[in-house]
Amino acid sequence: MEVAPKIAPSMLSFDFANLASEAYRMLNLGADWLHMDIMDGHFVPNLTIGAPVIESLRKHTMGYLDCHLMVTNLLDYVEPLTKAGGSGFTFHVETSKNNWKELIQKIKSHGMRPGVALKPGTPIGDVYPLVEAENPVEMVLVMTVEPGFGGKTFIPEMMDKVRILRKKYPSLDIEVDGGLGPSTIDMAASVGENCIVAGSSVFRAP
Ligand code: DX5
Ligand code: ZN
Repeated sequence: MEVAPKIAPSMLSFDFANLASEAYRMLNLGADWLHMDIMDGHFVPNLTIGAPVIESLRKHTMGYLDCHLMVTNLLDYVEPLTKAGGSGFTFHVETSKNNWKELIQKIKSHGMRPGVALKPGTPIGDVYPLVEAENPVEMVLVMTVEPGFGGKTFIPEMMDKVRILRKKYPSLDIEVDGGLGPSTIDMAASVGENCIVAGSSVFRAP
């Protein structure tokens, strides 16, 4: 089975004062998804946006909002984010060790698409149970930088994780996030990722 390629510009590099027009601009330029980085200042040392901002943006776009939750209290975010209009709900495996089954169930029952993300230091095996579960996640996000900020340097060693995942799960959506741009995309694509998040490389490009 073929997986569909997706490009997801990261709104972390958007002009936050002009979210709607930035979203239009990205979708008009051919973006498939809009990657929304939700950070709580606890799981990562940065604070960004939450459901109210997603709700405001949703009024201006029908686009797929690929929400990446870098937060600790994941269960608390499902309902508000659904109501706000989130499309994908990707949570970190590091903060869902004890409740991922309940979380996946809740995300699906609210009509969003569940994904699981892992930090560079987290072994790839930690996500297998979530992909192989009776009620599985539908995407794995491999972080290629430490989460928290845009504009960091891509960690090429993470490509081993992507290679292993693609071999094991031919039809799974595999997303890479952090430091992706013209000099690193080929590397990631050649080992099997099909969803590319790109923040600074998109927004800094002429
Ligand atoms: C970082 C975020 C990324 C970030 C990527 O923690 O998850 O989505 O915006 O930005 P770039 O592409 O600049 O590394
Ligand atoms: Zn992200």
